[in-house]
Order: sequence, then C-alpha cells, then structure tokens
Amino acid sequence: MEVIIQSDVGMATQLVARLIAKDLRQNPSIVLGLATGRTMERVYALLADMHQKEGLDFSRCRTFNLDEYVGLPPQDHHSYRFYMNYHLFSKVNIDRRNTHLPDGMAADLDAACVQYEQAIREVGGIDFQLLGIGNDGHIGFNEPLSALRSRTRVKSLTPLTIAANGPLFGDPARMPRRALTMGVGTIIDSKRCVLLATGTSKADILAKAVEGPITAMVSASALQLHPHCTIVVDEEAAGRLAGKDYYRFIFQNEPEWAEFR
Ligand code: F6R
Repeated sequence: MEVIIQSDVGMATQLVARLIAKDLRQNPSIVLGLATGRTMERVYALLADMHQKEGLDFSRCRTFNLDEYVGLPPQDHHSYRFYMNYHLFSKVNIDRRNTHLPDGMAADLDAACVQYEQAIREVGGIDFQLLGIGNDGHIGFNEPLSALRSRTRVKSLTPLTIAANGPLFGDPARMPRRALTMGVGTIIDSKRCVLLATGTSKADILAKAVEGPITAMVSASALQLHPHCTIVVDEEAAGRLAGKDYYRFIFQNEPEWAEFR
C-alpha cells in the first residue's frame, strides 16, 4: 500500500483522474471498477473533460460499479445507475452495454449477486478499482463486520451510512436500508486499486484504515492485503496519519510518481 498526499481536494482528484486516464490509454479495453458518492463526482467531471478536450477514449472499456441500492429503478435519481449515467456515461463515448451495476431490482437478489461475480470473472477480473471510503470505514457498501473474503451480496446499511447519505434523498426515510455490494474479497481481487479520500471528516477513519490493524470492523483496512493499492488524500484527510513525512518522501522520490509531481 502507498499513500499519496496532495495539497488540496483539486490536486488529489486530478491525480486520481490522471491515474485512470493513463491506464485507460495503455489498455483501451480496460475493466474499470467504479464507485459513486460525492467524492467521485469531481473525478468523473475531470474524466469527462479529458474526453472532450483530449479525446480520452472510453469506447472499448468495460465498467463494473461497486454497489447499488435495493429497490431503486435505474430512472430513480437516487439510484447509482442514474448517478453513473448522469456524471460519467452520458458525457463520454462509452458503450452502455459495457457498463454494469448490481441489479437492485432483481426478483432474486442473491442470484443477481452470483451473476455479477460471474460477469466480472468472464471479463477476466477488474483491472483498476476506484474506491471511496465511508465514515464507518466501508468500501463499496461493505459495512463493519463484512467478512474480509466476502463476495457480491446484499448488505444492510448502518445508521452511520444512512445518516451520511439520507440527506441526499431529501427525506432520509426514503433511503433504502439495503444495498447490493461487491464484497471485500471481490475488491481485493482487483489487479490495482486506488482509494480517494478528501476532507477532514475522513481523517479519523482513514488513519484507522491505513495505519491501524486489519479488522472487519474497518473494511477499508483490508486494502493492506492488496498487492497494488494506492491511497490518494488531500491534506485534510491526511490530518491524522502518523507517517505523513514518509508518505511525502515516497511521492517526491519514487520514479513511478515523477510524471505526476
Ligand atoms: C459508493 C461507495 C461508497 C462511497 C463512500 C464515500 O459507490 O463505494 O463506499 O465511496 O460512501 O462516499 P462520499 O464520497 O459521498 O463521502
């Protein structure tokens, strides 16, 4: 795992967008694992911009989103399918048939989860997994105590997550209490993953995930087991990290980061 600290949210977001763009250019039929949430809106805006201004080509790439609410149809403005169409898919030249989200409307949710895992396997796995982190340490919707080897399944959301996302629904009572999510094991199986965290509200949980013990109480801590995981943060989210000086040293000295400095 490596931690890259950027001065502010703009720089951190830009770095993540550039990392995605670099891998997409190198492998136009890349399989991207995508996240939703407020943090990612800026990433998708930058990717859309790169498509328009630099011709960043999404025509052959495939995408699998981390999660979807149970019971929200794609046309519901709060569904993650709607979010993805709105923030990214409608703004780039992606083939919608290559975009996948778990089916939160399926009559048999468990079967839909098994099919989702199968679909990921059939394309050879996820090449680049984009992640955010919830206030309770979730990645995707892997709430505390999610098994570290879990696969795509139905999860009940925690009161903390409902408090964080409920306001987006206007009336928090309208927010679904369950979601389909890739498992921690599914995420760990990705070939490369990048987690973006910004703002002071993420500082405590980020320090636990990165520098604390690996524990199912903080799903993001399982990323310590990932063979190629980069955590990108702004100064605010880095506020509680003990190893800040070392992380800065890595960014300044590792040849791999030279083109991004
Ligand atoms: C959603 C997802 C979640 C979010 C997390 C942070 O697809 O993967 O884990 O990344 O809840 O959300 P924001 O960015 O809204 O703080």
